[in-house]
Amino acid sequence: MGASAFIFDLDGVIVDTAKYHYLAWKKLANELGFEFTKEQNELFKGVSRKRCLEILLDIGGITATQEQFDRWMVEKNEDYLEYIEKMDASEILLDVPKVIGFLKDRNIPIALGSASKNARPILEKVKLLPSFDAIVDGNDVSKAKPDPEVFLIAARKLNVAPENCVVFEDAVAGIQAANNADMISIGIGDAQILSEADYNFNDFTEMSLAFLESLTSVQA
Ligand code: G6P
Ligand code: MG
Repeated sequence: MGASAFIFDLDGVIVDTAKYHYLAWKKLANELGFEFTKEQNELFKGVSRKRCLEILLDIGGITATQEQFDRWMVEKNEDYLEYIEKMDASEILLDVPKVIGFLKDRNIPIALGSASKNARPILEKVKLLPSFDAIVDGNDVSKAKPDPEVFLIAARKLNVAPENCVVFEDAVAGIQAANNADMISIGIGDAQILSEADYNFNDFTEMSLAFLESLTSVQA
């Protein structure tokens, strides 16, 4: 039996929210008196908000009290929510609708598997919430990627065995989480960075429907 369910990461796979996360983290870093570069922002992909703040404070050489830490978490998220407020369907990444449409036409279930606690409002803004048969996000997990928890919960919600699930991911930790879940991992982005993935594509424009068809009909 081939792949019978597909799980999508959100940030960097369905929408490019990394730029908004970057702006919000950069604003906080600047307020705290240091710079935060786009290159450093790469380290934040797929990483929980709490862990991102820990890394940011490390970069700035700042030791925070618990109270400051909690306040900065809230502040960053409030700024991020302002940046994403006006997001709409025009921000869906190229050919994502092509892939979702292909799967929906074949009644293949799809789930979201994201570390973000803002996943639902973002899917609502870009009008993709109704397309998903299951949503697993940062509010549902206790262990962050590369732990497979987020994807295993998604597979369970779809009632599909992990080895029959395909995961689309743009983060190294996400590819590792998919591999740890025993799922088929597909890297969306730089193949050198995502070298642990089973398959690699720069973006969905490079992914043919014939490729998707081959995944769903492969004999396991
Ligand atoms: C995704 C992004 C990360 C972000 C995390 C938490 O995994 O790639 O950069 O830190 O979600 O997002 P949140 O919206 O909960 O702050
Ligand atoms: Mg991502």
